[in-house]
Amino acid sequence: MSSLCFLFVLIWLGDRVFCQGSCRNHSDWMNHLPIEMHKMKITEIAIPGSHDSGTYSLMKTSDIFIDGSSHKNDIILDFLKFRSQYKQNGLLGELIYRWSITQDLNITSQLYCGVRYLDLRIAFDHRNESRVVHGLFGTTLHDIFTQIKDFIIKYSKEIILLDLQSMATNHEISKENALKNVTDLLQDFFSDRIIFAENIQSYKLKDLWQQNISVIVFKRSRDNNKKDSILHAHASIRSPFDYKQFTQTWSWLHFLDLNYANRGKQGTDTFYVTQGIMQPHWMEVVIAGISENATLRSWVSSKATRKIRDWLHGKHIGKNGINIVIADFVEFSNFTDTVLDLNAVTNVRGPTSRKSGSVCYRSIDNNLLWLLLIIFMLLERY
Ligand SMILES: *[C@@H]1O[C@H](CO)[C@@H](O)[C@H](O)[C@H]1NC(C)=O
Ligand SMILES: *[C@@H]1O[C@H](CO)[C@@H](O)[C@H](O)[C@H]1NC(C)=O
Ligand SMILES: *[C@@H]1O[C@H](CO)[C@@H](O)[C@H](O)[C@H]1NC(C)=O
Ligand SMILES: *[C@@H]1O[C@H](CO)[C@@H](O)[C@H](O)[C@H]1NC(C)=O
Ligand SMILES: *[C@@H]1O[C@H](CO)[C@@H](O)[C@H](O)[C@H]1NC(C)=O
Ligand SMILES: *[C@@H]1O[C@H](CO)[C@@H](O)[C@H](O)[C@H]1NC(C)=O
Ligand SMILES: *[C@@H]1O[C@H](CO)[C@@H](O)[C@H](O)[C@H]1NC(C)=O
Repeated sequence: MSSLCFLFVLIWLGDRVFCQGSCRNHSDWMNHLPIEMHKMKITEIAIPGSHDSGTYSLMKTSDIFIDGSSHKNDIILDFLKFRSQYKQNGLLGELIYRWSITQDLNITSQLYCGVRYLDLRIAFDHRNESRVVHGLFGTTLHDIFTQIKDFIIKYSKEIILLDLQSMATNHEISKENALKNVTDLLQDFFSDRIIFAENIQSYKLKDLWQQNISVIVFKRSRDNNKKDSILHAHASIRSPFDYKQFTQTWSWLHFLDLNYANRGKQGTDTFYVTQGIMQPHWMEVVIAGISENATLRSWVSSKATRKIRDWLHGKHIGKNGINIVIADFVEFSNFTDTVLDLNAVTNVRGPTSRKSGSVCYRSIDNNLLWLLLIIFMLLERY
């Protein structure tokens, strides 16, 4: 019965959703933090982040990425992977594309928007090259790191957090080699501006600046934790997530509330990610499979980014406060501006750079409605 209610809500909501894309230029907001904040730890200030940061580079014609070790609960992708056993792009590529894109802006533009936390899912392609992935293969790590490096050369006080959420290998490369390859690449690019996990004395901004640190890297897999590594261990960053609760607005926000209330218990050397993202409900997966224009962007992300923006009002930074906040489509709903406002940055500089707003539709046509009604009659019977 609850699914029937959900359907009606969905149909009721089946109107236009405006996806507005704009963000102010926050090219060097860390540098312009008020001086009292320089002795704060970087784990205690508000930092905008992007979810699946590299997905702007996916293309409908990219190779489909099939991997058993990706997120277990990613129903959409599992469904698509199941279908991709017939491995032909075309319609399938198009479908995966629509539901895998979580960002429009490239890394450079995200950084200008104020994003300082990047979520990277990595895999090696058939040419042994490391790339970002999400359903499809995207651009190379080399390209991503180049954009970051160009940025930190210009803005030397900005500290970028790189979260290597997953690293999939192809059948020719062992896990150790993959890890080494990525670590070497990081060191080639960032050399002495990247901090060794064991060397970290303090996460205070002024101390990081004094050591010329610009990059902090996290690795999520728990294996192979060497001490002399540039990779911060899993335990140094908390990122509470629950697939099921994230499919409905109220349970998702409730989950965020509970975790926000408990944050202080973890100590302040732990980074803390608030996941401002929602997951598609299984009903949406069904509808999306047959609906012409359905995308993650218009069906899920635009609402989630707006809701997290609203949720942030009245939140605080500091030991018990907000730290990293991630979202899909970081330019929607003034997301980065809102996160950075928590740091009481009154002196946002530069002209406003606006990407022209675009409109998404979340509409359901009549044929689809009939189809849904039939599906529901069947569902209610069994
Ligand atoms: C990123 O996007 C901006 C704006 O669209 C563009 O000017 C810039 O050249 C892009 N950079 C890269 C490295 O793709
Ligand atoms: C990929 O790397 C593996 C192990 O280093 C090697 O055996 C294989 O030949 C490489 N494949 C290509 C296409 O370069
Ligand atoms: C490792 O990195 C190098 C250069 O960064 C690249 O040429 C090579 O193909 C990568 N892959 C493996 C498996 O070594
Ligand atoms: C940081 O960079 C400055 C200027 O480039 C240099 O003088 C200083 O020695 C560097 N500090 C460290 C700890 O490397
Ligand atoms: C973003 O902020 C500007 C200026 O504060 C405001 O005019 C605009 O309506 C906001 N956009 C959204 C989508 O909330
Ligand atoms: C952002 O502002 C900085 C400094 O004010 C400026 O150098 C840069 O070109 C601006 N970037 C964009 C994309 O507007
Ligand atoms: C799908 O999008 C096209 C243009 O982008 C529009 O003309 C069409 O009406 C949309 N279909 C539905 C069912 O919303």
